[in-house]
Amino acid sequence: MFKVSNIYFFKELLSTNTYLADNFNKYDNLSIVCSDTQTSGRGRNNRVWISSYIENLYFSILLKDLSYFKILTQLPILSSISIYRTINTYYNKIKIKWPNDIVIVKDNAFYKIAGILIDSFKDYMVLGFGVNLNIAPSINDQNTCSLKDLINKDIDKKIFLNNFIFNFEDIFNEYIKFGFNKFQKEYNNNAYKLNDFIEIKDNLNIYSGKYLGIDNNGFALLSNNKDLLRLVNGEVKNNL
Ligand code: BTN
Repeated sequence: MFKVSNIYFFKELLSTNTYLADNFNKYDNLSIVCSDTQTSGRGRNNRVWISSYIENLYFSILLKDLSYFKILTQLPILSSISIYRTINTYYNKIKIKWPNDIVIVKDNAFYKIAGILIDSFKDYMVLGFGVNLNIAPSINDQNTCSLKDLINKDIDKKIFLNNFIFNFEDIFNEYIKFGFNKFQKEYNNNAYKLNDFIEIKDNLNIYSGKYLGIDNNGFALLSNNKDLLRLVNGEVKNNL
């Protein structure tokens, strides 16, 4: 059974990901650490995750038993679907931007609602989730929006987190029993820019092509005339 063991609430931490990584031996598998604010919130690709708003949600999950996952690159996809399904019950016009951002699309631009940072170590992993529940932080090179902006209602953090945990356990239990296939489909059905021409940027290169969704490893598929590219790292480029 895939079940969250305990939830720990803090008023302020540097980063829930960093905290769990530094203290992994003190916490059980599938512990959740949630903090009202973070003083050094981290995003993907060394970006800062603005974390001064107590109204938003910052939490991380410690994965110590990795034996369930034959293909570790499927994990970010399952994590994205967990947050996707949770937000979707509040507002259902959201998309998943590869690999794991939740966005809405307006006038051909995307606005980010949630992001996931996964830190991998030799024997354990930390999955970190940041969700703009009630405030859209202003960031120079990125459009953001909050769930409250979309539905004109205050979002209760604890209720949202409980809904997330329900989805997360459900999705991972189903994955362990039945495999990845269904989740690959769910991801692709809700993928931002599916069948459109996109650019994916990793540390070294920019790849372009028609986005065909993810394969059964969670890799992004880009077709450009002669080749089918399978990308493990990187992200869909900003369209600003
Ligand atoms: C992204 O760049 O989209 C990923 C953002 C992840 C932010 C969350 S907030 C909780 C956890 N702790 C961190 O420092 N980062 C993640």
